Amino acid sequence: MRDLYIRRMTLPVPLPRESYLNRLPVVRHLSGHGIGFRRQVTFFVGENGSGKSTLIEALAISQGFNPEGGTKNFSFSTEDSHSELCDYLRVARGVLYPRDGFFLRAESFYNVASNIDQMDREPGPGAPVISNYGGISLHRQSHGESFLALVENRFRGHGLYILDEPEAALSPAGIIRLIQNMARLVSAESQFIISTHSPMLMTFPGAEILEIRKDGIVSLPYNETEHYKTTVRFLRSPEDALEDILGDPEES
Ligand SMILES: Nc1ncnc2c1ncn2[C@@H]1O[C@H](COP(=O)(O)OP(=O)(O)OP(=O)(O)O)[C@@H](O)[C@H]1O
Ligand SMILES: [Mg+2]
Repeated sequence: MRDLYIRRMTLPVPLPRESYLNRLPVVRHLSGHGIGFRRQVTFFVGENGSGKSTLIEALAISQGFNPEGGTKNFSFSTEDSHSELCDYLRVARGVLYPRDGFFLRAESFYNVASNIDQMDREPGPGAPVISNYGGISLHRQSHGESFLALVENRFRGHGLYILDEPEAALSPAGIIRLIQNMARLVSAESQFIISTHSPMLMTFPGAEILEIRKDGIVSLPYNETEHYKTTVRFLRSPEDALEDILGDPEES
Protein backbone atom coordinates (compact mmCIF):
# COMPACT_ATOMS: atom_id res chain seq x y z
CA MET A 1 0.00 0.00 0.00
CA ARG A 2 1.53 3.29 -1.11
CA ASP A 3 -0.23 5.53 1.35
CA LEU A 4 -2.40 5.27 4.45
CA TYR A 5 -5.92 6.70 4.64
CA ILE A 6 -5.23 8.15 8.09
CA ARG A 7 -1.73 9.50 8.64
CA ARG A 8 -1.83 11.62 11.75
CA MET A 9 -4.04 13.00 14.52
CA THR A 10 -3.34 16.17 16.48
CA LEU A 11 -5.14 18.55 18.82
CA PRO A 12 -4.16 21.99 17.56
CA VAL A 13 -6.29 23.95 20.04
CA PRO A 14 -6.75 23.25 23.75
CA LEU A 15 -9.89 21.55 25.01
CA PRO A 16 -12.09 23.46 27.47
CA ARG A 17 -10.12 23.66 30.69
CA GLU A 18 -12.80 21.95 32.77
CA SER A 19 -13.16 18.94 30.42
CA TYR A 20 -12.42 15.50 31.92
CA LEU A 21 -10.66 14.71 28.62
CA ASN A 22 -7.65 16.77 29.75
CA ARG A 23 -6.96 14.13 32.42
CA LEU A 24 -6.69 11.26 29.93
CA PRO A 25 -3.11 10.22 29.09
CA VAL A 26 -4.04 9.73 25.46
CA VAL A 27 -5.41 13.26 25.15
CA ARG A 28 -2.37 14.79 26.84
CA HIS A 29 -0.15 12.93 24.37
CA LEU A 30 -2.28 14.10 21.44
CA SER A 31 -1.95 17.73 22.53
CA GLY A 32 1.78 17.52 23.04
CA HIS A 33 3.04 15.28 20.26
CA GLY A 34 0.14 14.11 18.12
CA ILE A 35 -0.19 10.50 17.03
CA GLY A 36 1.26 9.37 13.70
CA PHE A 37 0.25 6.23 11.81
CA ARG A 38 2.99 4.32 10.05
CA ARG A 39 1.55 0.86 9.36
CA GLN A 40 -1.60 -0.57 7.85
CA VAL A 41 -2.49 -2.01 11.24
CA THR A 42 -2.19 0.08 14.40
CA PHE A 43 -3.19 -1.26 17.79
CA PHE A 44 -3.87 0.93 20.80
CA VAL A 45 -3.33 -1.00 24.02
CA GLY A 46 -3.35 0.17 27.62
CA GLU A 47 -5.13 -0.07 30.92
CA ASN A 48 -8.88 0.28 31.36
CA GLY A 49 -9.75 3.97 31.36
CA SER A 50 -6.60 5.11 29.52
CA GLY A 51 -8.76 6.62 26.76
CA LYS A 52 -8.57 4.13 23.87
CA SER A 53 -12.30 4.08 23.12
CA THR A 54 -12.55 7.85 23.52
CA LEU A 55 -9.75 8.29 20.99
CA ILE A 56 -10.89 5.89 18.30
CA GLU A 57 -14.52 6.96 18.62
CA ALA A 58 -13.47 10.59 18.05
CA LEU A 59 -11.43 9.50 15.02
CA ALA A 60 -14.38 7.50 13.63
CA ILE A 61 -16.82 10.40 14.05
CA SER A 62 -14.34 12.80 12.43
CA GLN A 63 -14.31 10.49 9.39
CA GLY A 64 -18.08 10.53 9.05
CA PHE A 65 -18.99 7.30 10.83
CA ASN A 66 -22.04 7.08 13.03
CA PRO A 67 -20.95 7.48 16.71
CA GLU A 68 -22.77 4.25 17.58
CA GLY A 69 -20.96 2.23 14.91
CA GLY A 70 -21.56 0.77 11.46
CA THR A 71 -20.73 1.94 7.96
CA LYS A 72 -21.02 5.57 6.87
CA ASN A 73 -24.62 4.80 5.81
CA PHE A 74 -25.75 4.06 9.36
CA SER A 75 -27.43 6.96 11.05
CA PHE A 76 -29.27 5.42 14.00
CA SER A 77 -28.85 6.84 17.45
CA THR A 78 -29.84 5.29 20.76
CA GLU A 79 -27.97 7.44 23.22
CA ASP A 80 -25.78 10.45 22.58
CA SER A 81 -22.79 9.31 24.59
CA HIS A 82 -19.79 10.39 22.57
CA SER A 83 -17.30 12.93 23.90
CA GLU A 84 -16.51 16.35 22.41
CA LEU A 85 -13.01 15.23 21.40
CA CYS A 86 -14.09 14.82 17.75
CA ASP A 87 -14.79 18.57 17.56
CA TYR A 88 -11.17 19.39 18.42
CA LEU A 89 -9.32 16.61 16.62
CA ARG A 90 -7.42 17.41 13.43
CA VAL A 91 -6.86 14.39 11.20
CA ALA A 92 -4.31 14.34 8.40
CA ARG A 93 -5.52 12.01 5.67
CA GLY A 94 -3.66 10.32 2.86
CA VAL A 95 -4.21 11.07 -0.81
CA LEU A 96 -6.52 8.12 -1.46
CA TYR A 97 -10.07 7.94 -0.15
CA PRO A 98 -11.15 4.58 1.32
CA ARG A 99 -13.81 2.75 -0.70
CA ASP A 100 -15.06 0.72 2.26
CA GLY A 101 -15.20 1.25 5.99
CA PHE A 102 -16.68 0.19 9.29
CA PHE A 103 -16.61 1.44 12.85
CA LEU A 104 -17.20 -1.28 15.41
CA ARG A 105 -17.95 -0.58 19.03
CA ALA A 106 -18.25 -3.71 21.13
CA GLU A 107 -20.91 -2.08 23.32
CA SER A 108 -23.23 -1.16 20.48
CA PHE A 109 -22.86 -4.03 18.01
CA TYR A 110 -26.34 -5.16 19.10
CA ASN A 111 -27.73 -1.83 17.88
CA VAL A 112 -25.95 -2.20 14.53
CA ALA A 113 -27.66 -5.60 14.13
CA SER A 114 -31.04 -4.06 15.03
CA ASN A 115 -30.50 -1.24 12.56
CA ILE A 116 -29.82 -3.68 9.70
CA ASP A 117 -33.06 -5.56 10.52
CA GLN A 118 -34.92 -2.24 10.69
CA MET A 119 -33.57 -1.10 7.29
CA ASP A 120 -34.74 -4.40 5.77
CA ARG A 121 -38.25 -3.97 7.20
CA GLU A 122 -38.59 -0.70 5.30
CA PRO A 123 -39.41 -1.07 1.61
CA GLY A 124 -36.53 -0.07 -0.65
CA PRO A 125 -34.91 -0.84 -3.97
CA GLY A 126 -32.24 -3.49 -4.40
CA ALA A 127 -31.15 -6.48 -2.35
CA PRO A 128 -31.80 -6.55 1.39
CA VAL A 129 -29.04 -4.99 3.49
CA ILE A 130 -28.49 -8.27 5.34
CA SER A 131 -27.34 -9.94 2.10
CA ASN A 132 -24.11 -7.95 2.53
CA TYR A 133 -23.64 -9.52 5.94
CA GLY A 134 -24.01 -13.20 5.03
CA GLY A 135 -27.80 -13.28 4.73
CA ILE A 136 -28.73 -14.30 8.30
CA SER A 137 -29.98 -11.67 10.74
CA LEU A 138 -27.11 -10.85 13.08
CA HIS A 139 -29.62 -11.27 15.92
CA ARG A 140 -30.10 -14.92 14.96
CA GLN A 141 -26.39 -15.65 15.42
CA SER A 142 -24.24 -15.60 18.52
CA HIS A 143 -22.18 -12.50 19.31
CA GLY A 144 -18.99 -14.07 17.90
CA GLU A 145 -20.72 -15.67 14.89
CA SER A 146 -22.36 -12.40 13.91
CA PHE A 147 -19.11 -10.46 14.27
CA LEU A 148 -17.25 -12.95 12.04
CA ALA A 149 -20.13 -12.87 9.53
CA LEU A 150 -19.68 -9.11 9.42
CA VAL A 151 -15.92 -9.26 8.83
CA GLU A 152 -16.03 -12.14 6.34
CA ASN A 153 -18.93 -10.84 4.24
CA ARG A 154 -19.07 -7.10 4.65
CA PHE A 155 -15.41 -6.02 4.85
CA ARG A 156 -14.38 -5.87 1.19
CA GLY A 157 -10.95 -4.20 1.17
CA HIS A 158 -9.62 -0.77 0.19
CA GLY A 159 -11.19 0.16 3.50
CA LEU A 160 -10.69 2.01 6.73
CA TYR A 161 -11.71 -0.24 9.62
CA ILE A 162 -11.86 1.26 13.10
CA LEU A 163 -12.50 -1.45 15.68
CA ASP A 164 -12.90 -1.12 19.44
CA GLU A 165 -12.02 -4.41 21.18
CA PRO A 166 -13.02 -6.68 18.28
CA GLU A 167 -11.94 -9.67 20.37
CA ALA A 168 -14.75 -9.08 22.86
CA ALA A 169 -16.98 -11.65 21.16
CA LEU A 170 -14.36 -14.10 19.99
CA SER A 171 -12.96 -17.44 21.16
CA PRO A 172 -9.24 -18.03 20.50
CA ALA A 173 -10.23 -19.83 17.26
CA GLY A 174 -12.39 -16.84 16.38
CA ILE A 175 -9.44 -14.49 16.92
CA ILE A 176 -7.43 -16.62 14.49
CA ARG A 177 -10.22 -16.22 11.90
CA LEU A 178 -10.15 -12.49 12.49
CA ILE A 179 -6.36 -12.47 11.95
CA GLN A 180 -6.83 -14.40 8.65
CA ASN A 181 -9.42 -11.86 7.48
CA MET A 182 -7.25 -8.95 8.50
CA ALA A 183 -4.40 -10.40 6.40
CA ARG A 184 -6.79 -10.66 3.41
CA LEU A 185 -7.88 -7.05 3.88
CA VAL A 186 -4.37 -5.69 4.46
CA SER A 187 -3.33 -7.28 1.13
CA ALA A 188 -6.32 -5.46 -0.37
CA GLU A 189 -5.08 -2.00 0.62
CA SER A 190 -6.91 -1.57 3.91
CA GLN A 191 -5.99 0.27 7.08
CA PHE A 192 -7.02 -0.93 10.54
CA ILE A 193 -7.01 1.18 13.70
CA ILE A 194 -7.89 -1.07 16.62
CA SER A 195 -8.09 -0.86 20.36
CA THR A 196 -7.46 -4.24 21.95
CA HIS A 197 -6.66 -6.14 25.11
CA SER A 198 -5.91 -9.36 23.19
CA PRO A 199 -2.27 -10.53 23.29
CA MET A 200 -3.11 -12.93 20.43
CA LEU A 201 -4.46 -10.23 18.14
CA MET A 202 -1.59 -7.84 18.77
CA THR A 203 0.91 -10.33 17.28
CA PHE A 204 -0.43 -9.44 13.81
CA PRO A 205 2.63 -9.25 11.51
CA GLY A 206 3.85 -5.78 10.66
CA ALA A 207 1.44 -4.02 13.03
CA GLU A 208 2.46 -1.05 15.14
CA ILE A 209 1.46 -1.30 18.78
CA LEU A 210 1.01 1.96 20.65
CA GLU A 211 0.82 1.40 24.39
CA ILE A 212 -0.93 4.18 26.29
CA ARG A 213 0.73 4.76 29.65
CA LYS A 214 0.15 7.33 32.37
CA ASP A 215 3.00 9.45 31.01
CA GLY A 216 2.37 9.11 27.28
CA ILE A 217 2.34 6.68 24.36
CA VAL A 218 5.15 4.33 23.36
CA SER A 219 5.55 2.07 20.33
CA LEU A 220 6.48 -1.47 21.36
CA PRO A 221 6.88 -4.99 19.95
CA TYR A 222 4.04 -7.24 21.15
CA ASN A 223 6.23 -9.19 23.56
CA GLU A 224 7.15 -6.02 25.46
CA THR A 225 3.57 -4.85 26.08
CA GLU A 226 2.17 -5.11 29.60
CA HIS A 227 -0.79 -7.17 28.35
CA TYR A 228 1.43 -9.77 26.71
CA LYS A 229 3.91 -10.00 29.60
CA THR A 230 1.17 -10.28 32.23
CA THR A 231 -0.69 -12.96 30.26
CA VAL A 232 2.43 -15.02 29.54
CA ARG A 233 3.60 -14.76 33.17
CA PHE A 234 0.18 -15.91 34.34
CA LEU A 235 -0.29 -18.79 31.90
CA ARG A 236 3.23 -20.11 32.31
CA SER A 237 2.22 -21.16 35.82
CA PRO A 238 -1.33 -20.21 36.87
CA GLU A 239 -0.83 -21.92 40.24
CA ASP A 240 2.20 -19.78 41.11
CA ALA A 241 0.54 -16.64 39.78
CA LEU A 242 -2.61 -17.32 41.81
CA GLU A 243 -0.59 -17.97 44.92
CA ASP A 244 1.05 -14.56 44.49
CA ILE A 245 -2.33 -12.92 44.05
CA LEU A 246 -4.46 -14.86 46.54
CA GLY A 247 -1.96 -16.35 48.98
CA ASP A 248 -1.24 -20.03 49.72
CA PRO A 249 -4.56 -22.00 49.80
CA GLU A 250 -2.98 -24.44 52.33
CA GLU A 251 -2.60 -21.61 54.81
CA SER A 252 -6.21 -20.39 54.69
N1 LIG B 1 -18.78 11.80 30.61
C1 LIG B 1 -17.65 11.51 31.28
N2 LIG B 1 -17.28 12.25 32.35
C2 LIG B 1 -16.15 11.98 33.03
N3 LIG B 1 -15.31 10.98 32.72
C3 LIG B 1 -15.64 10.20 31.67
C4 LIG B 1 -16.82 10.42 30.90
N4 LIG B 1 -16.87 9.50 29.92
C5 LIG B 1 -15.77 8.74 30.07
N5 LIG B 1 -15.04 9.15 31.12
C6 LIG B 1 -13.76 8.59 31.59
O1 LIG B 1 -12.82 8.59 30.52
C7 LIG B 1 -11.88 7.55 30.73
C8 LIG B 1 -11.51 6.89 29.42
O2 LIG B 1 -12.53 6.01 29.01
P1 LIG B 1 -12.35 5.07 27.74
O3 LIG B 1 -13.66 4.36 27.58
O4 LIG B 1 -11.86 5.85 26.59
O5 LIG B 1 -11.20 4.08 28.23
P2 LIG B 1 -10.62 2.79 27.53
O6 LIG B 1 -9.13 2.97 27.43
O7 LIG B 1 -11.36 2.50 26.26
O8 LIG B 1 -10.92 1.67 28.62
P3 LIG B 1 -11.32 0.11 28.44
O9 LIG B 1 -10.03 -0.63 28.24
O10 LIG B 1 -11.92 -0.23 29.75
O11 LIG B 1 -12.29 -0.03 27.31
C9 LIG B 1 -12.48 6.64 31.79
O12 LIG B 1 -11.73 6.77 32.99
C10 LIG B 1 -13.88 7.13 31.96
O13 LIG B 1 -14.33 6.99 33.27
MG1 LIG C 1 -12.62 0.99 25.70
